[in-house]
Amino acid sequence: MDKFVVQGGRRIAGSVAVSGAKNAALPIMAAVIASQGETVLENVPDLVDVRTLSALLRTLGVMVTPAADGQVRLQVVDPGACVADYQLVRQMRASICVLGPLLGRRGKACVSLPGGCNIGTRPIDLHLKGLAALGAEIEVRNGYVLASARRLRGAAIHLGGSRGSTVTGTCNVMSAAALAQGTTIITAAACEPEVVALADFLNAMGARIAGQGTPRLEIEGVECLQGTRCRIIPDRIEAATLLIAGAMTQGQVELQDVRPEHLTAVLELLAEIGCQIEIQADQKTAAVQTLKLSAGGPLHPLDVTALPYPGIPTDVQAQLMALACTIPGASVIRDQVFPDRFMHVAELGRMGARIRQQESTAVVSGECRLTGANVMASDLRASAALVLAALAAEGETTIRRIYHLDRGYAALEQKLNALGAHVTRLPDQWGTGHSPVPEWTSPGQQRKSA
Ligand code: EPZ
Repeated sequence: MDKFVVQGGRRIAGSVAVSGAKNAALPIMAAVIASQGETVLENVPDLVDVRTLSALLRTLGVMVTPAADGQVRLQVVDPGACVADYQLVRQMRASICVLGPLLGRRGKACVSLPGGCNIGTRPIDLHLKGLAALGAEIEVRNGYVLASARRLRGAAIHLGGSRGSTVTGTCNVMSAAALAQGTTIITAAACEPEVVALADFLNAMGARIAGQGTPRLEIEGVECLQGTRCRIIPDRIEAATLLIAGAMTQGQVELQDVRPEHLTAVLELLAEIGCQIEIQADQKTAAVQTLKLSAGGPLHPLDVTALPYPGIPTDVQAQLMALACTIPGASVIRDQVFPDRFMHVAELGRMGARIRQQESTAVVSGECRLTGANVMASDLRASAALVLAALAAEGETTIRRIYHLDRGYAALEQKLNALGAHVTRLPDQWGTGHSPVPEWTSPGQQRKSA
């Protein structure tokens, strides 16, 4: 288990390239289950979650061969396996993305329920509703989803829930419908760029999907899907995280290999509060661009609500809260996607942040000066928020349980250090090397020495 030791108070400035998107790579890798022949993926991020899903795919008869510089080759070698074991699924909720492809191609799936995590209960009722609508027999027993279907049939499916649509639910139903008999219409489909990327990947394999990026998908089932080559889109959440690091430290961050159109709401928000945003065409390819943020003057408080795409992403909510801690005045941050996603509040409080959270709303008083402390990561994006706060804090911060961060950020400390930060990764032997107890003389001691 590792920890980060961060020396705060340094300006974040410089240029880095953004990695491939975790939340695009995972459903795309899972969708290979539904294909035959070899698929070659480029720009796959080197993440714990990618390695966990690779291990799961191998148990499901998919040969996964990582190569140099982000290339991964995948091919189905045993189309008979259909059990996604609890031991692997429990490590990563996104494992549920194998359910749709298994059902669509193999007609049977036994997938452990993914369980909740620190950001909420995370049900899969909409996933199961959509797959049942396609004709699957579904039973939930002993912590597993048992699903079977001789041949799925196209259907009209509404995937809207009380919190909006479902990203991985849309991925699952779309992947299954791609091989169903007939046409499927999905309304209230998720519009995230990662869902669009999966639809484009399925189409490159021979699927017939239209409407991706809108709430209405039309999918005409085909007989088979053929392996293809695909480059994973840039990670918009990592891009937003790095931009916020610049905003918090009055810095200047230039990001290469980004798709600015994937994070419009975040860019508009950063501009509204006083950052300068510049977008340049990328010399290498029109597909990606270079994005520059400069934050030279005082910033204004935030008033933001995390919403389904194209709104402010819930995956950036914690990082924006860390930013709000550095801006004088009262900021309001709400999360309508995961109302309980506030594990970072207590740990930010240990660094001096003054945050009042009530249900799905937090009010941040930005007057306080963040100071270095011992803090504990609790989930992926909360970890990122603690790293950002540590960059802006006075003094040294030790962040434990960095394995949460490694699930979704590829070499974040290397990227931040290339931008002028001072982040050291160390093995975490409990009880040693923690941030020093502050100098302090108690009132009693003061009287004695007077
Ligand atoms: C995906 O999770 C992402 N993960 C999450 O990113 C992201 O926060 C989330 O979408 C929202 O954008 C991956 O893509 C691997 P949802 P997912 O189904 O699909 C409710 C990160 O940090 N819901 O879109 O699991 C649910 O409780 C991760 O990278 C139901 O009620 O999220 C939530 O309130 C964290 N029933 C809302 O919908 C369902 O069947 C959105 O969930 C499914 C979801």
